[in-house]
Amino acid sequence: MSHTKQAGAVVVHGGAGASVDHEDACVLAARRALGQLEVNGDALDAAIIAVTTLEDDGRLNAGSGAVLCLDGATVEMDASIMDTRGRLGAVACVQDVKNPVQLARAIADTPHWMLAGEGAQRFARAIGLPESLPLTERQRAEHRKLMAQMAGSVPVMPGVDNSVFGRIWNYNSPLELPEASACDTVGAVVRGPDGHFAVATSTGGSAPSLLGRVGDSPIIGSGFFAGPEGAVAATGIGEHIVRHLLARTVYGWIAEGMLLAQALQRGIDLFGKDVAVGLIAVSRQESGACSNRGMPQARMTQR
Ligand code: GLY
Repeated sequence: MSHTKQAGAVVVHGGAGASVDHEDACVLAARRALGQLEVNGDALDAAIIAVTTLEDDGRLNAGSGAVLCLDGATVEMDASIMDTRGRLGAVACVQDVKNPVQLARAIADTPHWMLAGEGAQRFARAIGLPESLPLTERQRAEHRKLMAQMAGSVPVMPGVDNSVFGRIWNYNSPLELPEASACDTVGAVVRGPDGHFAVATSTGGSAPSLLGRVGDSPIIGSGFFAGPEGAVAATGIGEHIVRHLLARTVYGWIAEGMLLAQALQRGIDLFGKDVAVGLIAVSRQESGACSNRGMPQARMTQR
């Protein structure tokens, strides 16, 4: 693998189907990532700063803005990091961690690549990572909206009857339907000036979901992938994305020499229109984003 000097590049997204009004968060995240590249040129550090910024924003489905689970009380989050220096870390179903992407980064320095649930949370406490901030009125309002949709006849999750969740309910509290499905993720891909690539993702998961549900975001090759020819991050409904190993599939097309925009569009075209999905990628020469929904995003290149 050759690592010739080239311009660093950053692409950031705030989730397929998220409001493009939140694009300012992506712009800030991309700027911070470029700033980090100026400091030490490390693509992974840059990707993590970008995703930490998105997790702290509070309007996106990750970190401080993560969606509530169906019980209206629990927040379970997934995150991942990977780069071409061999660093790989992921966390699944973790509760009460302010920045899951930093936990994924720390896990990459253990003998393991992924920790899940209580073990992940205990590890976060052991290394002193901050706990989640208190739930916000915004998170509660999003949950009320979801429950209102769940009470209706239009499937909240494409192809799944809303009543299914009542039949397979696995929370301690009873299902209550008193009154927008969320499936977005945040992510960043970075090409370092030394030719290394990195990716980071973070999500509050899809809504509706059972306790313990894991989507694509922490699954290597599905929600994220980095290799010698580039880095790819996916967003959308994890249950669909994993079936296509989407990030690795699109990376493969880029590595074969397909134009990046064509590879991203081909990835999106694998899905029906009812399935929200989005992709971002960087390659040796290009960078880009593509989605079948509105998707807040930012793309910046070093001068
Ligand atoms: N892409 C986020 C999820 O399905 O969990």
